[in-house]
Amino acid sequence: MTVDFTMQFPAGFLWGAATAAHQVEGGNTNNTWYAWEQAGGRVYQNQTHGLACDWWGGRYLEDFDRAAELHHNAHRFSVEWSRIEPEEGRFDDRALAVYADMIAALRARGMEPMVTLHHFTDPLWLAEQGGWTNAQTVDRFARFVRVVVEALGADVRLWCTINEPMVYASQGYLLGRFPPGRRNLGAMFRVAEHMLRGHAAAYHTIKAIDPDAEVGFAKHQLSLKTPFPHALHYGALRLVRSVFNRAFVEAITTGELRLPRRRVRVPEARDTLDWIGLNYYYRFQVSFHPFSPRQLFLRQTAPRDGIRGPGDVGEIWPEGLFEQIKWLCQTTGKPLYVTENGVPDPDDALRRLHLVRSLRSVWKAIMHNYPVRGYLYWTLVDNFEWAEGYDPRFRFGLFACDPDTQERTPRPSAAIYGEICAANALSSATIRRAIPEDEFDALFPGVPVRPQVTLPPRST
Ligand code: BGC
Repeated sequence: MTVDFTMQFPAGFLWGAATAAHQVEGGNTNNTWYAWEQAGGRVYQNQTHGLACDWWGGRYLEDFDRAAELHHNAHRFSVEWSRIEPEEGRFDDRALAVYADMIAALRARGMEPMVTLHHFTDPLWLAEQGGWTNAQTVDRFARFVRVVVEALGADVRLWCTINEPMVYASQGYLLGRFPPGRRNLGAMFRVAEHMLRGHAAAYHTIKAIDPDAEVGFAKHQLSLKTPFPHALHYGALRLVRSVFNRAFVEAITTGELRLPRRRVRVPEARDTLDWIGLNYYYRFQVSFHPFSPRQLFLRQTAPRDGIRGPGDVGEIWPEGLFEQIKWLCQTTGKPLYVTENGVPDPDDALRRLHLVRSLRSVWKAIMHNYPVRGYLYWTLVDNFEWAEGYDPRFRFGLFACDPDTQERTPRPSAAIYGEICAANALSSATIRRAIPEDEFDALFPGVPVRPQVTLPPRST
C-alpha cells in the first residue's frame, strides 16, 4: 500500500543556499585567514584558499544562474571586511561596488539576498589591535557596518550581523584551530562578550539607517547527548549546552551574558533581533573528563552509533533540527531562518537522504507552529572549508567545484533540492525519486494493516 502525501511549506518561504566571502571569493590577501594559511601547518596539507570559487573574478554570476535555474528564491552570502576597509578608516568604493553588483545580480534572478557582515575573517589591521579581544572592536565593527548599510542597504532587507559567534570564539581562542590559534578560556569569553556587543551595535546601526531592515545573526547549535547516564556526564552536557548553545542567545532576552564564573550586563543587546538564524550540522557526545582542566573537564566526541561524519565532526543527525528550532523560537520569540544546514559528502551518497530528513524535521517544526521562514542550504558550490581546506572529504556543495579548473558539476542532490524549491513542498513523489525504496520505508514506515478485532457479543 502506498500513500501519497505533500509537506507543503508556507507561502513566501525562502529557499536557497548560503556561502561566505573567504570561502568563495579567492584572492583575499588582507585578512586573518590569509595570514593563517601562509604560516603553514594550520590548514589541510598546508593549502591556501587560492582562487576559491573565483567569485571575485566574477563567477558569482554563473553560480547565481545555477541557483536560479534550480528555483532558489534566496541566497545568503557575506561581505569581506578586509576588502571594504583595507586600512583602518579607509573604505574602498570598488569593493562595495562589487557587492552591490552581487545584490543586483541576485535580485535580477528573483533571489532575495541575505547579507552577512562578519563570517570568521577579520582585517589584519584589526587583528593587530587584538581583534575581538579588544573592546574597541565593537565600535570599529559598527563603523564598518554603517558604511556597508549606507552603500548597499537600499536593496537589502535581510541582514545577518555575525556568523556563529561561539564557533569563532571557541575555535580561535579555546581550541586553537582558527586564527589566532589561542587556547585561553578567559580570552574566549571576552571574545564572546565583544561579539555580543558587536551584534547589538550592528543591530542599532542598521535599524537607525533603515527601520524596515530585518536583522538577526546565525547561531550554530549542536545536538548533544551523553555516552551513558551519569550525573557527572549530564553536568558536562549542561555546561556545553549552556556555554555553546544558549548563553549568547539568552543574553538577547535577559540583557546579561551568563558564562561560567562570569556574568556581564549587556543591556544594549536586549531585544536586538528581528529573526534568529540556525546553523545546524551535528550531534556530539559530551562526557566528564577529569584530566582536561583547561577544557573545563570536558570531552566532546562523535557518538559511536549513528552516521559518522569525516574526521571528528560528529554524528550526522538531521532530526536534531526540530529541537533546535523549538528552543530558539521559544527562547527568542522570533521567526527563524535555517541559515545553514548541509553535509560533507563528496559522492552525494548521503546528501539526498540528509536533505529529506532535514526538511521533514523543519516541516515538523512548522506544523508545531514555530515560525520558520526559510531554509538556506550549505552550500551552493564546494569551497574552501577553513582548517579542512580543500580536503576531498569536506565537500558540502550542491555543485562539485574543482578549485584548479573551476569546473562545476551538479551533484544529483542539486536537482532534487531544485524540485523541492520549485514546489515549495516536499512530496512523497519527490522523496521516492530522491532515495531508495528501503530508505523511504524506513523513514515512513506506516502502520501494518491488521484484521479488525471483533468483540464477543454481550451476554444479556
Ligand atoms: C560555517 C561554514 C562552514 C560550515 C561547514 C559552518 O559552521 O559557518 O563557514 O563551511 O560550517 O563546516
